[in-house]
Amino acid sequence: MNEAHLKLCASAEWADAVRRYIVPWVTAGQPLGSELLEIGPGPGETTAVLRELAPSLTAIEVDPQLAEKLRLRFADSNVEVVEADATDLPFEDKRFSAAICLTMLHHVPTLEAQDKLLAEMARVVAPGGAVLGLDSLDSPDFRALHVDDVCVPVDPATLQSRLEGLGLVDVEVETNEYALRFSARAGV
Ligand SMILES: C[S@@+](CC[C@H](N)C(=O)[O-])C[C@H]1O[C@@H](n2cnc3c(N)ncnc32)[C@H](O)[C@@H]1O
Repeated sequence: MNEAHLKLCASAEWADAVRRYIVPWVTAGQPLGSELLEIGPGPGETTAVLRELAPSLTAIEVDPQLAEKLRLRFADSNVEVVEADATDLPFEDKRFSAAICLTMLHHVPTLEAQDKLLAEMARVVAPGGAVLGLDSLDSPDFRALHVDDVCVPVDPATLQSRLEGLGLVDVEVETNEYALRFSARAGV
């Protein structure tokens, strides 16, 4: 992430939006079970809210510096931070009860890599478990925040068929003014 984007993701305003709008919208009515997986926690404002929703949260961050800071921030808590690339998760099949990725897919540089990451989420969730996510919609402001940074926005019009193509079931995609959310279940 560039400096401006990192600052935003660590801000009090973002933390407030995550707690009041983002996490409730994505997780509404979704059983998360006891072993939740978070992909791309960044500075950890999403992690701070998600850790309240499950007894155990594993957070996967590809950036070594962010992963180290997260380890310190969530030491002695129910969060385990793992430094890894979520397109190739270091976990066995069906290990988690649910998985979630918030405002991170656009940082994955190609549609193929995004699909690989989504397929990994599906692989490590037990059959019937929730696979959930949210990302910002494309806009000039969104692009401006990503100068000199990876930015491959997710098209809500094609996301349903992408998720179904990965074997996920009960797929739903919804948008509001700012973002898209998706929910699905891991297949058997
Ligand atoms: C914009 S931040 C979002 C942070 C947080 N989810 C939030 O909404 O505040 C995106 C994060 O995803 C991480 N990320 C990008 N690609 C990743 C990958 N392949 N595996 C794991 N993390 C990744 C980035 O390093 C960054 O910390």
